[in-house]
Amino acid sequence: MNSTKLDWINEEIGALKESGLYNTIRTIDSPMDAWVKINGRSLLNFCANNYLGLANHPRIRQAAQSSIDQYGVGPGAVRTIAGTMTPHIALEERLANFKQAEACITFQSGFMANLATIPALVGRDDIIFSDELNHASIIDGCRLSRAKIVRYAHNDATDLEKQINNVTDYRRRIIISDGVFSMDGDIAPLDELADIAERHDIILMVDDAHGEGVLGRGGRGIVDHFGLHDRVDIEVGTMSKAFGVVGGMVAGRAEIVEWLRQRGRPFLFSSAMTVPDTAACLEAVNMLEESTELIDRLWSNAQGFRQGLGQMGFDTGRSETPIIPVMLGDAPLAQKFSQRLFEEGVFAMAIGFPTVPQGKARIRVMNSAAHTPQDIELALETFHRVGKELMVI
Ligand SMILES: Cc1ncc(COP(=O)(O)O)c(C=O)c1O
Repeated sequence: MNSTKLDWINEEIGALKESGLYNTIRTIDSPMDAWVKINGRSLLNFCANNYLGLANHPRIRQAAQSSIDQYGVGPGAVRTIAGTMTPHIALEERLANFKQAEACITFQSGFMANLATIPALVGRDDIIFSDELNHASIIDGCRLSRAKIVRYAHNDATDLEKQINNVTDYRRRIIISDGVFSMDGDIAPLDELADIAERHDIILMVDDAHGEGVLGRGGRGIVDHFGLHDRVDIEVGTMSKAFGVVGGMVAGRAEIVEWLRQRGRPFLFSSAMTVPDTAACLEAVNMLEESTELIDRLWSNAQGFRQGLGQMGFDTGRSETPIIPVMLGDAPLAQKFSQRLFEEGVFAMAIGFPTVPQGKARIRVMNSAAHTPQDIELALETFHRVGKELMVI
């Protein structure tokens, strides 16, 4: 067949490869853990959002396995048609309680939770104030809603208020921010955002994907971290990161959760989390409620890693959480750095445009409670060696 209609894809892919922005996806032939097996080699893993090491924890595995014996695997259809299964309700009640929220609803993923929530709350005549570095799922949720999107400067409450004062023609308004920014590891000034939201009577929504199980007392998230329990209307979260499983959640005001059960499109038109996912997430809540040991280890590992990189002369940007970017700027350099780390036995991905702005390529180090102090030491030695070789430090 002599067709040219898809030639543009090959041209685009060629351009990505030339500019160092082509994603090479590694195949992991082992459980997701501190060490993973790739092409028959064991590598020290700093790519996963497996903050607490629960992705392969025996208790999480066991919970998933036992639930299959009791309830099977699939939910059958969307919950509004096939009915909702007991484990889903149990998880939502436990999560609401854990997060001290009025209610909670789960979705298939954090991405879906944003796609469900934003268009259900705002539409054509409404205004969204969105941090300029918000996650792609928030951006897509905003676009789907057809509301007017006003971007404010990253983590800048003064700019947010200025933008609010500039817009006078609207029906409803919402402020949306990531809690922990996934590429920089900095934390939104949620207390300041809450003050502004209250002053102007605007709905406040935070996406705490990277704060869930990481920030706050016992990993209760960013709202707990700032003590803002009755002052943030919507807390979106994910169970694909610290919880080690997959699934999204929205915790917050009871009327918003009830509305999402009626009008959240991914809830109405896509099947629920599977039973083993749900049971595994419930067990993650049990573990978080029982002990802070894993969270303490995560923060101690992250602190040691950040300090070590800083002492060697690496630029770790604005990081204040277990997400640590090693800023390199140039995308081909970041890819080369990641490749050399890989050859030396450390798996840490280069991140470039469009995930981060042009010229801000980096290696993103994701810490985990699964790492031992020896793992951290070994990784730091490797970063030092590669950094010297590529003349970054
Ligand atoms: C801020 C934010 N929201 C949502 C998501 C999506 O989460 P999930 O993997 O559960 O779809 C992510 C994941 O990277 C994220 O960082």
